This record gives sequence, C-alpha cells and structure tokens, in this order.
Amino acid sequence: MNIHIFDHEEQLYKEAARRIIDLVQDRPKAVLGLATGSSPLGVYKELIKSYQSHHVSFEHVTTFNLDEYVGLSSDHPQSYRSFMNRELFNHLNIHLKNTFIPSGDSINIHNEPDRYNALLSNYQIDLQLLGIGTNGHIGFNEPGTPFDLLTHVVTLDSRTRTDNARFFHHLDQVPTQAITMGIQSIMNAKEIVLIATGEKKASAVKAMIRGPIDPMLPASILQNHPNVHIYLNHQSAKDL
Ligand code: F6R
Repeated sequence: MNIHIFDHEEQLYKEAARRIIDLVQDRPKAVLGLATGSSPLGVYKELIKSYQSHHVSFEHVTTFNLDEYVGLSSDHPQSYRSFMNRELFNHLNIHLKNTFIPSGDSINIHNEPDRYNALLSNYQIDLQLLGIGTNGHIGFNEPGTPFDLLTHVVTLDSRTRTDNARFFHHLDQVPTQAITMGIQSIMNAKEIVLIATGEKKASAVKAMIRGPIDPMLPASILQNHPNVHIYLNHQSAKDL
C-alpha cells in the first residue's frame, strides 16, 4: 500500500486528481471506477477544473459507479445517479451513455446484479476511486461480506444509514438496501485510489492498513492489491 498523508486537504485532492488526469491523458479511453459521498468531491472539483482549462478530455472515457440505493428513482435528488450528474458528469464532456451506475429501481432489482456484472465483464477498470465507511466498508460491502462477491444487493448497516442520514431530512428516509459492486469487482481494478479525511475515519483507516485482513473490516482486503494509493489527512492518519 502506498500511503500519502497531507497537511492540507486541497493538496490531497489535487494529487489524487492528478493520478486520474495523468491516466486519462495517457489513455483517452480509460475506464474509471467512481464513488459518491463526501470523500471524492474535492477530486471531482479538480477534474472539472482541469477539463475546463483544456488539460484533459473525457470524451472517450467510460465510468462505472460502485453503488446505488435500492428504491430511489434515478431522478431522486439523493440517488447516486443524480449525485454523479450534478457533481461531475454535467460539467465534463463525457457522454452520459458511457457512464454506468447500478439501477436501484426496486421492480427489476433481482436482475440488476447480473446485468451490471455482465456489463462490467466487457471492461477492466483502470482506476477505481474509493472512500471508506466509518465501519470499514468499501462500496456498500458492509462488515462480514465475503471477499469473493461481484455486484450484489445488500442490507445497509445501521451505522452506514446513520452516517448517510446527513443527506436526507430524516433517518427514516435513508434506504435500507443498496446494490453494490462486490469486493472481487473492486479488486479487479488495475489501480485503486482511496480517500479518507477527518478524525471519524481514523480507526477504520488504521484497521485497513495495520489490522489483519478480515471480512469484518472489508477495506483490509486492499492490503492484497498490488497497486493501491491511500490519500489521508493528518486527522484520518492520526492512529497510524
Ligand atoms: C459511495 C461508497 C461508500 C463511501 C463511504 C464513505 O459510493 O461506495 O463506500 O465511499 O461510505 O462515504 P463519505 O465519503 O461520504 O464519508
């Protein structure tokens, strides 16, 4: 694992975005694995800046998102499709038809993992961007998820629902299920970039890096990946 610790978050996001920008400059048809939540937002701002100043083009890039809530329509403001369009895609020259996100539409949810896995099997993700949950989840692979799963439907941990309640008016509105790429799908990426900031992430970060590899701390499996870059600030790195 390559650990990068920064004094200033702005620098952290610039450096993490640099990995993506360099990749897309070298490989205009790059396949990116993307995440939602607070952690990647600073990176997305840097990607938008770089595109707007004509340093990089996303015209031929394909993206796969990690996850989506079950039961929110894609146009719900808190769906991950809405999040991605709002925070990134609408500001780039990427073609929306090349941006894939699992569908959380509950009517077809039982077929969705197979559909998404079939799509993914036509590509290899060059770089997968990740955040980490306070419980050590990656994607929505909650503690106890076997390491060898591909895309699947999960019941969200109560801690994940509480952590994400900040995006909703009430805890009751946070969906109870999600669909997520599995840990095996994540480990298939050629390169992984994980971002964690803030003291709330410190214990999960320590367990991911220093702890035993254990399904109860899903991110610990990243110790087995040959090309991982972890971007931390002093708060999230404080227990290392
Ligand atoms: C989001 C995702 C989650 C988040 C994690 C951290 O697509 O897969 O694993 O990365 O819950 O969330 P934030 O960044 O909001 O602290």
